[in-house]
Amino acid sequence: MCAESLGQELSATLKKWKNKRGNLIMILHEIQDRYGYVPRDVALEVAKELDIPLAQIWEVLTFYNLFKLEAPGKYVISVCMGTACYLKGAPEVFDKFKEELGVDEGESTKDKMFHLQGVRCLGCCGLAPAVTINGKIYSKLKPHDVAGIIVQCREQDKLKNLN
Ligand code: FES
Repeated sequence: MCAESLGQELSATLKKWKNKRGNLIMILHEIQDRYGYVPRDVALEVAKELDIPLAQIWEVLTFYNLFKLEAPGKYVISVCMGTACYLKGAPEVFDKFKEELGVDEGESTKDKMFHLQGVRCLGCCGLAPAVTINGKIYSKLKPHDVAGIIVQCREQDKLKNLN
């Protein structure tokens, strides 16, 4: 399933950069591209895989202020703008998210509930156009699906707050 492919994607990123110079920064860049920030649990996984202390990763993350350590919104919406998704209507889906949320690419809603970003290929082109929200894949989206997804997230958030 594609949800797993995000984990697989992290493995692919690690494999690609493992023995290259300056690899840590490139790995962290790819992670931030995907999630909108560098989640702590993912940083931990990187430390484990590269066999380096977490503190070393933290040093890099805090030295370069382009890295974000916190989610820019409760729900980080990543719209894939890779070729397959682009050709299957990702720009229209992206526009609909912008319209519904009242934000542009790379922005968060005022209540910090949603952050919207465009990303490169998510690695599940067969499901194009694909979007991830906090790592969960939404496949073969049409613009008319967008409003319902946003409502779903808001309801999920309300439920979480009740518990
Ligand atoms: S181009 Fe979107 S998943 Fe590959």
